[in-house]
Amino acid sequence: MTDSAQQVPYTTNNAGIPVESDEHSLTVSPDGPILLQDHYLIEKMAQFNRERVPERVVHAKGGGAYGVFEVTNDVSQFTKADLFQPGKRCEMLARFSTVAGEQGSPDTWRDPRGFALKFYTEHGNYDLVGNNTPVFFVRDPQKFQDFIRSQKRHPQTGLRSNDMQWDFWTLSPESAHMVTWLMGDRGIPKTWRHMNGYSSHTYMWVNAGGEKFWVKYHIKTDQGIDFLTQAEADELAGSDADKHRRDLFEAIESGNAPSWTMNVQVMPFEDAPDYRFNPFDLTKVWPHGDYPLIEVGRMTLNKNPEDFFVHIEQAAFEPSNLVPGIGPSPDKMLLGRLFSYPDTHRYRIGPNYAQLPPNRPHSPLASYAKDGPMRYEPARTGAVYAPNSYGGPAADTARFGEPAGWETAGEMVREAYKLRRDDDDWGQPGTMVRQVLDDAARARLVSNVSGHLLKGVSRPVLDRALQYWRNIDKNIGDRIATEVNGG
Ligand code: NDP
Ligand code: HEM
Repeated sequence: MTDSAQQVPYTTNNAGIPVESDEHSLTVSPDGPILLQDHYLIEKMAQFNRERVPERVVHAKGGGAYGVFEVTNDVSQFTKADLFQPGKRCEMLARFSTVAGEQGSPDTWRDPRGFALKFYTEHGNYDLVGNNTPVFFVRDPQKFQDFIRSQKRHPQTGLRSNDMQWDFWTLSPESAHMVTWLMGDRGIPKTWRHMNGYSSHTYMWVNAGGEKFWVKYHIKTDQGIDFLTQAEADELAGSDADKHRRDLFEAIESGNAPSWTMNVQVMPFEDAPDYRFNPFDLTKVWPHGDYPLIEVGRMTLNKNPEDFFVHIEQAAFEPSNLVPGIGPSPDKMLLGRLFSYPDTHRYRIGPNYAQLPPNRPHSPLASYAKDGPMRYEPARTGAVYAPNSYGGPAADTARFGEPAGWETAGEMVREAYKLRRDDDDWGQPGTMVRQVLDDAARARLVSNVSGHLLKGVSRPVLDRALQYWRNIDKNIGDRIATEVNGG
């Protein structure tokens, strides 16, 4: 309830008219029929029937909070983006989520976590819509829809199906790095406060002199990484399905505002053509030894939204919201996503979604958009087209006209990225298993994978899955096979 609403001492209908009763419908005598002229009853029922917007097609279950982002290090030699200039501080919104489950699904299912950030900058909204993983399952947007269907419910049974999941993964070897990540400890964070966020994609940064750089964001939790074992997560799925949503809300409510340190890896623009991995392939990381982390700033989530639906359900994050100084890269997945999000928002929330509280910029608006369902901001009066002679805004091409782009040419094809020297699907996950995980983490990986494979995965898919793991690491594959085949 807003302050102005709280000052009203009586209930009103949506038009502000005092209502006659909160409890009784208008009837002919106490036991008689309800009258059609009880417009307040009809308003209540009709409003109720329209309370839901469709849930997000992916990342439906989540939660979030408002906060601030503060720059802690001078990265102005890499980007002119106003929010990253020394001394800057801007308001922001974060939403965390699981991917495959529906609105009411448990927070502790094994799944990647969405890590979506919206920064309200001087040049409009900057959205960094990442995950808690630095890589993804596929590298071409053509496969995203198929991938998601394999992770959601079976068309006949309406059940989640490990068989569909492993069928898709094992037929898509580029998934190996992400699947290794997902099956490891970080596949079920203890809470959203105890996980990192990554842009996953490579983006472009442009400095005030017009120099270009490739960057990857790493947003590291200041609470420390922590995770749940499969057994702990299974128990919580039954006893507290909203565990992560509750944890974030309660932490902020009790004054324990969580924070994260934003870092970037920066690759000089001219390194990209000869780098040993394709730097735009979303299934690969840039090893830290090649491109170390550079600190940028700190984000702190310190304000719970006053209304979950208004601020979190209606929040619309879109990777296409890139501000001056930041651009996309040739990552095909990212380029696909630039279309997908505004499109789904127009469908899910409506074409005027950008006017809603979480989505409206905090900087001045001078758009020529007008009309459409639920428009409540008046269109520009007088000048509703450009160019015009009546004082409407004009693009400042001298300041903002240079696109953050790159040179490209070639035949039109439908082909995979060209392979670089170290580009293969098994190399980086193999390094993770052998060099990053310790013995205890490897043992949990074997147990997580074999436990998953033993739940409804059919024989031919199972055989492919064992080979998939042997390709990642022969030893770990053999250990999984031993578990699955009963020792
Ligand atoms: P480093 O030793 O510099 O980095 C290893 C990374 O692994 C650290 O960032 C660490 O996270 C992360 N990590 C630790 N435990 C786990 C786990 N259980 N699940 C997932 N990640 C974990 O080596 P490199 O940069 O050379 O990368 C080696 C391998 O590490 C890569 O092939 C990749 O699989 C993985 N990795 C690499 C990242 C990168 O961007 N270079 C990022 C994350 C993973 P933390 O951030 O907490 O230090
Ligand atoms: C949500 C599409 C890949 C992170 C969504 C939504 C769609 C979508 C349609 C629902 C948005 C909404 O209704 O508000 C796609 C497509 C992809 C892709 C087409 C690939 C081609 C990715 C990748 C990441 C990612 C690689 C992370 C790096 C997210 C997050 C959300 C989301 C965090 C939830 C945003 C929120 O909290 O509202 N995606 N996605 N997606 N996606 Fe993707």
